[in-house]
Amino acid sequence: MLSNENLDVFYALRRKELKRSVRDVYSKVGTPINVGGLAFLTGGTLDGEKEKRLGAEFRTALSQLISQLGKPNISDFFPALAWLDVQGVERNMKKVSNWMEHIFDFVIAQKRKLCEVDHVRAKEKKYWGKDFMEVLMDYKDHDTGVGNHHMVQRKSHLNKLTYLHAVVKETLRLHPVAPLLLPRSPTKSCTVGGYTIPKGTKVFLNAWAMHRGPQFWANPTEFRPERFLEAHDESKLDYSGNNLSYIPFGAGRRMRAGLVLGERMLMHVLAVLLHLFEWELPSGARLDSEEKLGIVLEKSTPLVVVPVPRLSNLDLCE
Ligand code: HEM
Repeated sequence: MLSNENLDVFYALRRKELKRSVRDVYSKVGTPINVGGLAFLTGGTLDGEKEKRLGAEFRTALSQLISQLGKPNISDFFPALAWLDVQGVERNMKKVSNWMEHIFDFVIAQKRKLCEVDHVRAKEKKYWGKDFMEVLMDYKDHDTGVGNHHMVQRKSHLNKLTYLHAVVKETLRLHPVAPLLLPRSPTKSCTVGGYTIPKGTKVFLNAWAMHRGPQFWANPTEFRPERFLEAHDESKLDYSGNNLSYIPFGAGRRMRAGLVLGERMLMHVLAVLLHLFEWELPSGARLDSEEKLGIVLEKSTPLVVVPVPRLSNLDLCE
């Protein structure tokens, strides 16, 4: 589902969603907005208020899920006690998972209904597959420059934004989304660096610390995107997980799932929002990059900024 080819096919859907977000930002020009919520694209299955309500509910469920995931769980450290579920982490996790499944079921049911209606309409128009055609036609476009007369959208645009790529890489170095990656567990007892790891041990890899290791990085705590542009062999500092000093998407068999979508969406959303708007701090506010450590890294204080349109042509978001 997340292969390059499939992601190309769904490109039009992602672009449509992004345009909706941009329109939303335009409607809030001059007022402080929480950037975290912006990258949260909703899917466009539902309309208006219903979508807003469900989007808010999904966000709440997701943040509860992340907070449960981040809780140190006594059951992990003393598996013999796991059946007691002392802190109720498992109980809460089941509750949130059911809640999310309920939301997904609802959206899928709505989508099915829409598809049935569309199918009837399409049959009437003998134009079944229009969306797919639109996607293919979009993809044939060979824009080369971004300029001030287009919204950033093509892969070719994004590929040219080398500095932005470096900024994203440097951000993921200092603030990796999953600082301890996902836990590993050896199927056989083994020895690593002189330490015995018994079979079945839950092992956390501290990617956050590796990304700041002075043995790998010059001035490791300094935010300096140029380091990625200066690298002699760029493949050494890509997202492949082959270089263990830089593993923002993980490494080995557990990585990759969301790599292409994550990288593309992050670049696309950022490029569009930076191209169309200047972003200012609300008066008196201070920029900080402090983080809350958890299984998923979050900012301690959400980033709230004020959008100011950069381009005169507001029709770009139409
Ligand atoms: C900037 C975006 C993203 C970053 C930085 C990121 C990072 C990560 C990391 C570090 C891991 C752990 C890998 C490991 O332990 O080796 C992971 C796992 C995973 N990610 Fe992402 N991810 C991103 C976006 C996505 C997206 C968009 C999806 C799905 C649509 C996704 C789905 C997954 C899944 C399913 C796993 C678990 C794989 C497993 O259990 O083996 N990720 N991600």
